[in-house]
Amino acid sequence: MRYHIPAFHAPGIRCIRLACAAALCVLGARRATAQQAPATAADSAAATPSAITAGRTVFHGQGTCLICHGANLEGGVGPQLTAHEWKDAKGGSYAAILGVITKGVDGTAMVAHPGGISDDQARQAAAYVWAVSHGKAKA
Ligand code: HEC
Repeated sequence: MRYHIPAFHAPGIRCIRLACAAALCVLGARRATAQQAPATAADSAAATPSAITAGRTVFHGQGTCLICHGANLEGGVGPQLTAHEWKDAKGGSYAAILGVITKGVDGTAMVAHPGGISDDQARQAAAYVWAVSHGKAKA
């Protein structure tokens, strides 16, 4: 015996289902951004315009970052470095990003000081990645 449930097809119900889907969407988006901490004074102080510019050169040059993370930080073999839920560099702060670049992630292709970059170049790359991921600079 087949049951016909007219209420399920009623426009009112469809509206409620749509509203639920929209609410879930909004919650999902909020959760994603919650994983990236807002800019702090320390972040902004480290990411000076000259550090960001130098970091862009390191990222696309000696650091070889673009091979794994993409020329526009869109990701590839490695994760995207635009705004996202940071896995290793928790919260996506400048300090957390710098920590990953200088220490690497054990057992992965993310080695410490990729391309043999210096500490200075690591700081510049971190400033660049932080600035792009926080909408403070273009890739
Ligand atoms: C050979 C590939 C490769 C190169 C080159 C590389 N990375 Fe990575 N990177 C990875 C991988 C893979 C991960 C993710 C590791 C894991 O599985 O957790 C990662 C993770 C990261 C993260 C943490 C992302 C997160 O979500 O927390 C940052 C930041 C990062 N890389 C920055 C850089 C920078 C800057 C450079 C250049 C100086 C660079 N990487 C060079 C492969 C690479």
